[in-house]
Amino acid sequence: MSIVEVENVSKKFKSGKKDFFALKDVSFDIKKGEIFGLLGPNGAGKSTLLNILIGILFPDSGNVKIFGKNPLKNNDLFEKMNFVSGETRFHWALKVKDILEFHGRLYGIPKNKRITETKKLAKFFEIEHILENKFSNISTGEKMRLIMAKALLNNPKLLLLDEPTVGLDPDIAIKTRNEIKRINKKLGTTIILTSHYMHEIEQLCDRIAFINKGVIVDIGSVDSVKLRKFASYDLTIKVRSVKNREFLRRKGFLINGNILRKELPADENISETLSMLAEKGMEIIEIESRKPTLEDYFVKMLGDKK
Ligand SMILES: Nc1ncnc2c1ncn2[C@@H]1O[C@H](COP(=O)(O)OP(=O)(O)OP(=O)(O)O)[C@@H](O)[C@H]1O
Ligand SMILES: [Mg+2]
Repeated sequence: MSIVEVENVSKKFKSGKKDFFALKDVSFDIKKGEIFGLLGPNGAGKSTLLNILIGILFPDSGNVKIFGKNPLKNNDLFEKMNFVSGETRFHWALKVKDILEFHGRLYGIPKNKRITETKKLAKFFEIEHILENKFSNISTGEKMRLIMAKALLNNPKLLLLDEPTVGLDPDIAIKTRNEIKRINKKLGTTIILTSHYMHEIEQLCDRIAFINKGVIVDIGSVDSVKLRKFASYDLTIKVRSVKNREFLRRKGFLINGNILRKELPADENISETLSMLAEKGMEIIEIESRKPTLEDYFVKMLGDKK
């Protein structure tokens, strides 16, 4: 079942006197339980797309369905969703505990559950010690942790995360990523995520869409999109002594002293190559392989566009 359906969505903004497309004819589906990443350079249209999904912005044309329904005509859908953005702000004078309490009420959580959930989330995101502090007096990272805690209060079935770990200490960022994965696995929460941290996308996302200038230019699993851009990668193997040179050359190895080099097709298994060398009686001392990362993919996608 598709949790999110986006069909030919376009959105124009004004820049000076001119209109431009922040999103142009964007279509994709997200299945239940997926973690879906939106990738793309600054100004690509990622936040605009998330803002349309949560009903902050209206598309100029096209349709959006969430849990099979039009969110603009079914406000109750928003009870099953939540949203995290680095840009979320609360009233400066509100205390952290009041912000959680207020949202707990807003989501209609009964009092007892509200208290236990707030305690649990405050402990998890390490904001227990600042519950009495005003929003204006807490640090950027603490704000982000509060926003994450707030977003999980209503146990959302669909969670939209716009750069959820920006500004967090590495240890809290790791915890947050683990938590994102945990709620996805344990509760089956469907998640849409934007991030400029490629390792985060690579670690978390089942599929990604690459957006550039409002257009989706690539979509698929992290492995499949990389494979489309990088057909091969370099493998370097140091052996104790080279045997069967002719055989190695036939297999495509370049030999330099006791170092063997080969360009492996991206979908070929290293272990087969290694066992083949072992069968020929070569002792492997060191292996180095440079598989393309999502960062390489990102740079190549932008390079290709230019
Ligand atoms: N309310 C608005 N009015 C006019 N232009 C806007 C508005 N909101 C966004 N834009 C423009 O639309 C484009 C897309 O912005 P958006 O915030 O969606 O980008 P993004 O992909 O989230 O970028 P980033 O990675 O920097 O967060 C940008 O050129 C931005 O300047
Ligand atoms: Mg953005």
